[in-house]
Amino acid sequence: MSSTANTKIAMTDEQFAKLERIIYERSGIHFQASKKYVLESRLGRRLSELEMENFDPYITFLTIGPYRDDEFQEMFNRITINETSFFRNEPQLDVFESNVLPKLIEARSDTKRLRLWSAACSSGEEPYTLAIMLHRTLGIRLPDWHIEILGTDISEKVLHVARSGRYGQYSIRTTPEVALSRYFTEDGADHVLNPDIQSMVTFERHNLKDRLAAKRHGVWDVIFCRNVMIYFDDQMKEQVVGMFNEQLADDGWLFIGHSESLRNLNTSFQQAPYPQGFCYQKTRV
Ligand SMILES: C[S@@+](CC[C@H](N)C(=O)[O-])C[C@H]1O[C@@H](n2cnc3c(N)ncnc32)[C@H](O)[C@@H]1O
Repeated sequence: MSSTANTKIAMTDEQFAKLERIIYERSGIHFQASKKYVLESRLGRRLSELEMENFDPYITFLTIGPYRDDEFQEMFNRITINETSFFRNEPQLDVFESNVLPKLIEARSDTKRLRLWSAACSSGEEPYTLAIMLHRTLGIRLPDWHIEILGTDISEKVLHVARSGRYGQYSIRTTPEVALSRYFTEDGADHVLNPDIQSMVTFERHNLKDRLAAKRHGVWDVIFCRNVMIYFDDQMKEQVVGMFNEQLADDGWLFIGHSESLRNLNTSFQQAPYPQGFCYQKTRV
């Protein structure tokens, strides 16, 4: 065991400033100085594992180390905030299911193809919730449709949970009873998503900074990107929202978190007239 295993490793302001910059450049995540303690405690544990005495060698490791890409992955697994749940913010999801989805089903009745991207999906509760909504809305028509739902996140650790389809009590805390009994099977303390819902969603690691990788996925009808832009500054938000604009169909929909806003950003989106929806469409010229 490392000699530093139980010792708190202090981070100087200078080390914090360097790490903050490195993290920002890689991911767009902006750590305010008041959150220094978060990095200090979460990465302090990593330093102990690596048997490093302080943050300087770690910064070098991340900057010029031969395994820096792997270490970035390890670091994001530790520093990201992955809070989520099934049916999170139900009034907003009602807008999606009752107002937006019927419009899209009508608009795509010729191709019978719908593509949904849950960007920064954490452990998958959000894209699986969308799958449940599509499943119950299309009902017996579902086999006639080609539905693609992609969940992406920067952290491989949460995607691992997502792919398992197995969830504890905390993940289902906002799930209506009727959905719980219809789409999950209890297994001990866990709830396992039924295979027909699991099979509707695929997962992939994606960093929202990576515009090229986003292009590779083509055009989406719906993008959900909730509760991650709060960690970005305006410059990063504009980049991400600009990328969504390129990757959305002209009549597509963007859903953001209820405490987020595109106001004051230079974007080509206009808010749709659903107060609970926090959803946007492209500005028509
Ligand atoms: C609070 S969770 C939100 C999950 C879900 N969208 C929801 O609202 O319930 C934020 C997620 O954003 C991810 N994230 C942070 N920065 C990211 C980036 N640059 N690219 C992709 N995902 C990122 C984190 O790993 C985390 O899982």
